[in-house]
Amino acid sequence: MAFHGLIRLDQLYDGYRGVFRIGREEILLLQQEGRVYLLDNRCPHQGFPLDRGTLRGERLICPRHGFAFHIERGDCFQASSCSLRIWSVAYQGSVIGVEF
Ligand code: FES
Repeated sequence: MAFHGLIRLDQLYDGYRGVFRIGREEILLLQQEGRVYLLDNRCPHQGFPLDRGTLRGERLICPRHGFAFHIERGDCFQASSCSLRIWSVAYQGSVIGVEF
């Protein structure tokens, strides 16, 4: 496994939303109430970019058809077979990233 740095911790703030491309992966980083979440940026329903979604509490709502995903678990509130991939947050010094 390799560490892929995304952003320095001091650049993050509540409401931050950023998309990072690493190889074929497109990862959405969100910070909400001091917690960082890493999710696939492509909606598992039909691939719409979720960085354009609406965040309501723990739900990220895809603007294309309205499916909502739990930002920590990735499960979909409308269709149990349609879960969003969640990445584990990794740290290296003052950099936050992902390992795969
Ligand atoms: S593409 Fe996201 S809900 Fe359909």
